[in-house]
Amino acid sequence: MQVITSPQAMTAWSLEQWAAGRRVGFVPTMGYLHQGHASLVDLAGNHADQVVVSIYVNPLQFGPDEDLDRYPRDTQGDLATCERHGAAVVFMPSTLYPPGFGTSVSVPGLSQGLCGANRPGHFEGVATVVARLFGIVRPHMAVFGEKDFQQLAIIQRMTEDLALGVEIVPGPLVRDADGLALSSRNRYLGPDQRRRALSLSRALRAMRASKLPQVAALRQLGLDLLEVDELDYLEVVCARSLEPLEHLDRPARAVLAARVGSTRLIDGMALEPRP
Ligand code: PAF
Repeated sequence: MQVITSPQAMTAWSLEQWAAGRRVGFVPTMGYLHQGHASLVDLAGNHADQVVVSIYVNPLQFGPDEDLDRYPRDTQGDLATCERHGAAVVFMPSTLYPPGFGTSVSVPGLSQGLCGANRPGHFEGVATVVARLFGIVRPHMAVFGEKDFQQLAIIQRMTEDLALGVEIVPGPLVRDADGLALSSRNRYLGPDQRRRALSLSRALRAMRASKLPQVAALRQLGLDLLEVDELDYLEVVCARSLEPLEHLDRPARAVLAARVGSTRLIDGMALEPRP
């Protein structure tokens, strides 16, 4: 496994793979890798000959009061995970924005609600860094986790709209044995907070198991089970357009973001249509 830090060297490596007829798979990350990330690397390996994992904590997607400065890092652990899961390259640039960088990519419709409502500028930061990473890494395909469902939808839209030529493959959300969706931020949770954080997946499972077709009743069912300090949103949205639904008449997703202590957690589950 190679570690590449310069964007130019990264592009050169990738162009060699293209010339040799090898398919390049890509998993962008911000590091502090867990089993959820490892499953994305495995998935990329099923779709490509060589897998590149990028590790870059992207300042553009953090708000002024967010955890950029204390975002967890573990370079040695991350490299070991990438090696174990068969990555060919770990791309770890010190910065991705050279002097004079002046472009911002935005996907306004899909970015407005849900996490976009509480994190102004976040998805512009994500779309901008992913577009730039695609330009540097030149992947044939890239994997994005379904845990960040809105992010996945935005990247799919951007990639199609800008004809970036990268196949986007969704990676299923991975949970701990107790049901908590894996996240690098779970390490911030104390024991009581972790216990209460489990109410997120409990609420979503109850919503999925219920037969209720009306979203208002379904939502109330989930709300009654939450033990969080602050709710950002609990919505049932169309799985394609992310529009809020009133009836479960098409494939949908229940999506949830909440704070437990000062830790912001997100989770989601697919919901089948109910006649
Ligand atoms: O999902 C993430 O970890 C980040 O948003 C991403 C896609 C690596 C962009 O910085």
